Amino acid sequence: MSLEHHQIKAAFDKAATQYEQHAVLQKEAMSRLVERVQFDLKKPPNQILDLGCGTGWASQSLLDLYPQSQIIAADFAESMVNAVPKHPQVTPRVTDAHCLDVHASSLDLVFSNMMIQWCDTQTALEEIKRALKPTGLVHLTSMGEHTLHELKSAWASIDELPHVNDFMPAAELADLTLRMGYEDVIADSEFITMTYANVVDLMRDLKNIGAHNTDHQRNKGLTSPKVLKQLDAAYQQFRTVDGLYPATYELVYLRARKPEADQGLNLKIKT
Ligand SMILES: C[S@@+](CC[C@H](N)C(=O)[O-])C[C@H]1O[C@@H](n2cnc3c(N)ncnc32)[C@H](O)[C@@H]1O
Repeated sequence: MSLEHHQIKAAFDKAATQYEQHAVLQKEAMSRLVERVQFDLKKPPNQILDLGCGTGWASQSLLDLYPQSQIIAADFAESMVNAVPKHPQVTPRVTDAHCLDVHASSLDLVFSNMMIQWCDTQTALEEIKRALKPTGLVHLTSMGEHTLHELKSAWASIDELPHVNDFMPAAELADLTLRMGYEDVIADSEFITMTYANVVDLMRDLKNIGAHNTDHQRNKGLTSPKVLKQLDAAYQQFRTVDGLYPATYELVYLRARKPEADQGLNLKIKT
């Protein structure tokens, strides 16, 4: 794993209290993913796992669609799980996607909005497959390779350190999922552009939602005013006609099915 697991967890734990206030993109992605689930599922799922649930806001949307479902709202950040609204059909659970505390073959649907990009993808997909019933579905969103390309390019003109996480391309994610024995795999992506008044606001937003770079080699110091000025200058080429600073996110959707006769093979695939 190139991302530092404990740092990601700590960042999300810390972000829990202001998360919903800043997670405009996540909420939009969540609504779009719910729509896809609604369009795709032929019958209501009994058991749903909302994996990497954050403050649990997907639960209500899923219950609106499927009023009889039972939902496990799971996240490895305890303060996120503590914020999940209480509901008799929603079971909050602190658990890690790499080692899921969920019974094997117990779920009809795994719903996961913008979590897997923080994980070792293959391990998380293995755990999801283990937890799904045969023919169960996973619907998830992730970030694609073009995410924050403006910021990446602006930083590249200043130094050679990794300032923006490298996200797995949609085609690679689909390929990995297929090789892991899932069926009916569909992956696609769309771009969502957010705009900010300045570079500082943009970077603050990433930090507030726990989405800042956690790569081992990143520069761990604060960004100095001099570097911020350089960053601002490098960003000028991207400014919109109304002078705003755009940040493009590539939202990747993955949909896959656990085969009816899953052989339970746990092959380690070299990626
Ligand atoms: C960007 S937030 C998305 C939250 C929520 N799904 C939403 O739609 O707003 C990512 C969430 O994934 C959780 N997460 C990241 N890595 C995880 C892991 N390995 N296991 C469980 N949760 C994880 C974080 O704690 C965080 O709450």
